[in-house]
Amino acid sequence: MCGIVGFTGKQQAAPLLLEGLKRLEYRGYDSAGIAVIGDAGIAVEKVSGRIDNLCEKTDNGKAIFGTTGIGHTRWATHGAPTDLNAHPHLSNDGRFAVVHNGIIENYAVLREELKAKGYRFLSETDTEVVVHLVEMFYDGDLKSAVLKTVSRLEGSYALGILCTDQPDTLFVAREHSPLILGVGVGENYFASDVTALVSYTKNAIYMDDGEIAELTPQGITVYDCRGREVEKPVSRITWDVEAAEKGGYDHFMLKEIMEQPQAVQAALTPRIRGKDIVLDDFELTAEDLRNIDKIVITACGSAYYAGCAGKYAIEEFCRIPVSVELASELRYGNPIIDEHTLLIVVSQSGETADTIAALKECQRLGAKSVAIVNVVGSTIAKLADHTLYTWAGPEIAVATTKGYTTQLAVLYLFALYAARKLGRLEDAAYEALLDEVLSLPQKMQQAIDKNHALPALAKKIHTFHSLFFIGRNTDWAVALEAALKMKEISYIHAESYAAGELKHGTIALIDEGQSVIAVCCNERLLDKTVSNILEMKARGAKVIAVAFQGERRVIAQADDIISIPHIEPIFSPALAVVPLQLLAYYVARENGCDIDKPKNLAKSVTVE
Ligand code: F6R
Repeated sequence: MCGIVGFTGKQQAAPLLLEGLKRLEYRGYDSAGIAVIGDAGIAVEKVSGRIDNLCEKTDNGKAIFGTTGIGHTRWATHGAPTDLNAHPHLSNDGRFAVVHNGIIENYAVLREELKAKGYRFLSETDTEVVVHLVEMFYDGDLKSAVLKTVSRLEGSYALGILCTDQPDTLFVAREHSPLILGVGVGENYFASDVTALVSYTKNAIYMDDGEIAELTPQGITVYDCRGREVEKPVSRITWDVEAAEKGGYDHFMLKEIMEQPQAVQAALTPRIRGKDIVLDDFELTAEDLRNIDKIVITACGSAYYAGCAGKYAIEEFCRIPVSVELASELRYGNPIIDEHTLLIVVSQSGETADTIAALKECQRLGAKSVAIVNVVGSTIAKLADHTLYTWAGPEIAVATTKGYTTQLAVLYLFALYAARKLGRLEDAAYEALLDEVLSLPQKMQQAIDKNHALPALAKKIHTFHSLFFIGRNTDWAVALEAALKMKEISYIHAESYAAGELKHGTIALIDEGQSVIAVCCNERLLDKTVSNILEMKARGAKVIAVAFQGERRVIAQADDIISIPHIEPIFSPALAVVPLQLLAYYVARENGCDIDKPKNLAKSVTVE
């Protein structure tokens, strides 16, 4: 997804902008550019492809002079990833430059209007209308031109704007797209993502929708949509540079897989007081919970699969019906939701466009909402009635790992919390289950430490064109996530199936040598899954099984075993997924894939 950065101060801007853009690389992009105000006006450099190309073109920024500038990484939506379509875009008179994240939905109408007034368009982007609007509205008052411009825009945007008449000023604007201001000493910054700011400042202002801001080296002023000054709190960023860097691992994804025991610990421990679970800044009373007749979990991708696994725990302990809905479907699905629905929104980034839209739609229909989110101050965290942060720290690799397992940890806590409030779990059962959840970090560490054979197993399967992941109930939820991990980073077709469904069609694809990965941690259904393994083997498939250590029924049948420590099966997805993330990682490494930035994918999907 696109990323934006801006700087104004006394230092040369271009090297800082390039550095900031590099920190946004993980979001996925296909072109990049910077614009800096110098003595001769605005200098713009942009390239399709990697930021390294931009560094080469500008001698790492040293070839561009000026202390105020903006930068952009583009992930193409309107128009191909070419140099011309890359941002920043310049006004026809060369006095203004703009970078933009998001989508201007009414750009076609605006484009026609501006063309009729004589403005020339050089790109196919939706963004270019913005810079021409600023030029059109400018009469010497940049703030007023920005306010008039944003009043004409529909859609989502985080904008960074330069004007040669105010060479040390940046203007920014936000609507439905993340934008954070970095507060420095004698210099100030903006970025679409905190990771681009952490090495320069730990003090941040989180902009809200409808706000614009003016940044100079001396200060930051935020205004509402009518131009009135708004007092904004300065928050402290708790992530450090180290947390946003690789820390000795070859890839962010591997680092993040290895960090999961600590990340899950961080999600769990602060919420435990003795034997009680304490939600962060809110409480759901027994009466609140009795007023709920169903829970809807909505999310996209892996966060949706976390919801699929969490559903089993909530239904089992609370006996409240739970439906898990893809946000992209729910938002247009005319859902049956009212004030008796509790909506749980799950999102690592807190910025996923479909998830935001589904949340808004359900809120409109009266649902109460709880968000499970990693990124503090993100749009979903702000919109939801209540937020439970996963506290996983920055997740840089595009494929989520610790984001997913910390979502599960929070969902499990929520299930136990709600069940206890409702009086649906005896104290002894509740305490035993809580102990099991709290054992997750230690057992995850064991699951990492004990599975030395995964790189060798990856060598056995990395040339396959297709893999099947099967399981029942909670094991199926794991199969869904494990198959997604495999396909997105190794580009091997991977399909997950509820094991009981195989006979209804998919078994036709099982042939001699086909590889099947069977998740076998749901003890109650194990005999059934083992029968499915036998059916696969009878047709010549090789089976890799994930099972609890020493589980003889599985060891006797599988060709290869990945074992994990025993845990209450309903919580096993958070454990069983760990070696499968590693397996996907090693397969992708064997195949020489760009693991942290898989092709066609972006970290934060801020467009529909
Ligand atoms: C897969 C992956 C994606 C995200 C999905 C939702 O590894 O990372 O499927 O889970 O795009 O993103 P968030 O959680 O940020 O809403």
